[in-house]
Amino acid sequence: MDFGMKNRLSRIIKPRSGKTVMLAVDHGYFQGPTTGLKDLRKTVTPLIPYADCLFITRGMIRTCIDPRSDVVICLRVSGGPSILGELSNEDITTSMEEAIRLNASGVGMSIFVGAGNEDRTIANLGRLVNEAERYGMPVLAVTAIGKEMGRDARYLGLACRIAAELGAHFVKTYYCEDFYKVVEGCPVPIVMAGGKKIPEREALQMTANAIKQGASGVDMGRNIFQSDNPVGMIKAIRAIVHKGASVEEAFEIYSKK
Ligand code: R5P
Repeated sequence: MDFGMKNRLSRIIKPRSGKTVMLAVDHGYFQGPTTGLKDLRKTVTPLIPYADCLFITRGMIRTCIDPRSDVVICLRVSGGPSILGELSNEDITTSMEEAIRLNASGVGMSIFVGAGNEDRTIANLGRLVNEAERYGMPVLAVTAIGKEMGRDARYLGLACRIAAELGAHFVKTYYCEDFYKVVEGCPVPIVMAGGKKIPEREALQMTANAIKQGASGVDMGRNIFQSDNPVGMIKAIRAIVHKGASVEEAFEIYSKK
């Protein structure tokens, strides 16, 4: 890995703890105005000081993020279908030039393993990595699993390993039972997506479990910005990820208004 690649990745995955708290706010790229992100600027502004990185699209960066802030960006560069269509029908929608212009520290796209266009999305990942290597830009592969497949260690492990084999520099996947098996089979850092909103204590427990089993942090959205106390929740997640806080300690942090 050359200097640019390593240095960009270190802006996302903090060298001091070897971990990251990424805040995912890219949901609108296929879901439209998701609950909690209708006014993205309003939701995200108070969370930025506690996020190591934002996972976000170019349109929302331009319109909702203050360019004078020192926020670190991982740019969602894939898209195409809406929630009404075939989700696996994605392509690369944002150029590397645009990522560099926006001062991104990483780019991210989804692969859909076990879904209709699995082969095309995986080949797209290969092409994105080829281009990203030229500019020292880390690539995050987001692993989506076909509807008929369980979100379990077997299929998530399959997807994460394929992403690493294709050259992704880090991978995002969901938590599952025996998460450590997914980590064991994947030689690059894994960050955990939060998934649908669940009670705060459960989300904190899931985060602690993932960290204990080898996750390099989270790229979490709804369980932070749909919480009744988003700032408390991101602080609580940080305490687990960076400081190894217990679920009880973290829940106390969340509960402080
Ligand atoms: C999924 O593809 C989206 O891009 C989100 O970034 C991802 O699901 C993480 O957000 P959440 O924690 O809400 O699942």
